[in-house]
Order: sequence, then structure tokens, then C-alpha cells
Amino acid sequence: MTQDVHPNRLNERYGLPGHLGFEPGPGGLPVATIENADAAASVCLAGGHVLSFRPHGAEPVLWLSRHSRFESGRPIRGGIPVCWPWFAAHPEDPAKPFHGFARLAHWSVLGTEALDGGNTRLRLGLTDDEATRRLWPHAFELEMAVTVGRDLHVALTARNPGPEPFTCTGALHTYFRVGEVARIAVHGLNGCRYREAGTDGGVQQGPVTFDREVDRLYLDTDAACTIEDPVLARRIRVAKAGSRSTVVWNPWIDKARRMPDFGDDEYTGMVCVETANAGTDAVTIPPGGAHCLEARIAVEPAPHGPS
Ligand code: BG6
Repeated sequence: MTQDVHPNRLNERYGLPGHLGFEPGPGGLPVATIENADAAASVCLAGGHVLSFRPHGAEPVLWLSRHSRFESGRPIRGGIPVCWPWFAAHPEDPAKPFHGFARLAHWSVLGTEALDGGNTRLRLGLTDDEATRRLWPHAFELEMAVTVGRDLHVALTARNPGPEPFTCTGALHTYFRVGEVARIAVHGLNGCRYREAGTDGGVQQGPVTFDREVDRLYLDTDAACTIEDPVLARRIRVAKAGSRSTVVWNPWIDKARRMPDFGDDEYTGMVCVETANAGTDAVTIPPGGAHCLEARIAVEPAPHGPS
């Protein structure tokens, strides 16, 4: 049965006074707003999509486009889109939604919790229905657990309740806010093999820096990445579990212009570092099995202050 996602109903059942409430967000989509002693965050039920995260006293950590659409069934540009059960184009049928259907679907609230220590947790769920089975013929249970504290922890668990194994790819496609992309460096991928469309791919030498479009799928890496941002004088650390791929993306000038929901000049203020399983790192889940893809995002001031 579909859940009644009217904010009043959700608040009656799942609201946590002083921690978490539901309200109509942009475009009228239902949004959970979380605020506790350490941080503020918001999560949209459309797409199971984290929209924002900001530890108190810090700048926003996630980037959200000024031009994003907020329409049911359309992807949101920014925050943390959930790409699942396939990453990028569907391998056999490019007419199917790019990055899968999870980011386009309406998720239900499974539970909310004020945890010991002051963190707040929201759990959202998505299961197969006729529409998902037309796109992907498997029974599944997805759970997105978002835990907000000084760090942001996101865990996407996929369970297979069906009689056959299934194989999936996916990503927590995280958009980070940066001061000036041409001045940042993404550490943690030195020596990793990557694929990049339109090139032969390669092996990363040193940190990733940006002076053109970068759209790289790094394979076979479980390393944490750090975004070094001298303009905002901070480091963002993205640690992960259950993930063998990392995608690093900035569209740069031409691709930014081609995307209707992305401002022409907005590429300077963002970078995606995506916690993924893609390409040869696809995951097969046996009947009754589960797989959890996790990212932990932490912000620390740069040792030398702004430059
Ligand atoms: C990245 C891909 O993960 O997502 C890029 O590597 C793609 O190729 C980007 O452009 C954004 O995809 P979308 O469907 O949200 O515009």
C-alpha cells in the first residue's frame, strides 16, 4: 500500500520534536528537515534524496543547483541522487532511465530515531512494484538510512527477497560544494585505474585536479577521498564501505551549457565524488542476501586557513 506522505500524517507518526519534521519542500515535494545540536540536513522523499547537510558553524557541504527541477518523476540536480539498480546508461537498453529508477521514485518513511549521542536517523524504503518490474524484472527492498550528526552517514542497503540472484550497479552520486573547482584537489585515488568516455582511460597520477571536463570511473578502489578546498578553507573527507568504484565528475563549460537544469557558470562551484559500484565492480546479491553501500562525509578546516 502506498504511504500517505502528507506532512501532517508523517509528522504525527514519525516527527521527532526538536530533531526532525516533515514539510512541503521545493515544488511541493515532501521533505524531512533535520536539525540537532550538531548539524542541519534535509531529505526529499521523492528520490530518497539528501538535499542538504550543514554542520552548525560551517558552510553548506552539499551543492544544489539553482536551476534544479523539483518535479515528481524528474531527477534533482545536486545533493545525493541515489543511482540504482544501474549506474549510467542501462547496459542493454539506453532508452531506460539514465542512472536507474531509484532517484525518480517515491520512497516511504520506514522510521525515525533520535540516537544516543545526539545524532538523528531517518530511514526511507523503496520496493518493487509494477512500474519497477517493467524496467527491471526483480523483487527488491531498498533502504536508505541517513544519519545526521557532526558527520553525515548515508547507507543504502539492497535486499533480494526473490528466488533468483540479481546483479546491480549504483552510486550515492554526491555533489559537493567547493569554492572554485579549478583550485581544488581530490586526494585518495593515486595509482587507481580509471575509465573515461572518449579516452583510453588511464592510471591516476597524484590528486585529481580540474581544468576541463572530468568524468572518470575509478575501478577497484575502496579508498576514502579527500577534497582539499583552499578557497573555502576546508577538507571534505568521503569515506566508504561496500563500494569498489569511485566516480569523479565535473561537467566544465560545454556540458554545463547542455544541461537544462544546470546553470552555465555553476560548474565552478561543485564537484561530484560518487561512492559507487559500477562497470566491472557490479554487485550480485543472492536470494535472501543483502548489500550495503555506505558513505561517511566529514568536514574539517584546512590547516592553513583560506588562500
Ligand atoms: C555522472 C556521470 O555520474 O553523472 C556523468 O559519470 C553524468 O556522465 C552525470 O553526466 C550526471 O548525470 P545526470 O543523468 O544526473 O545528468
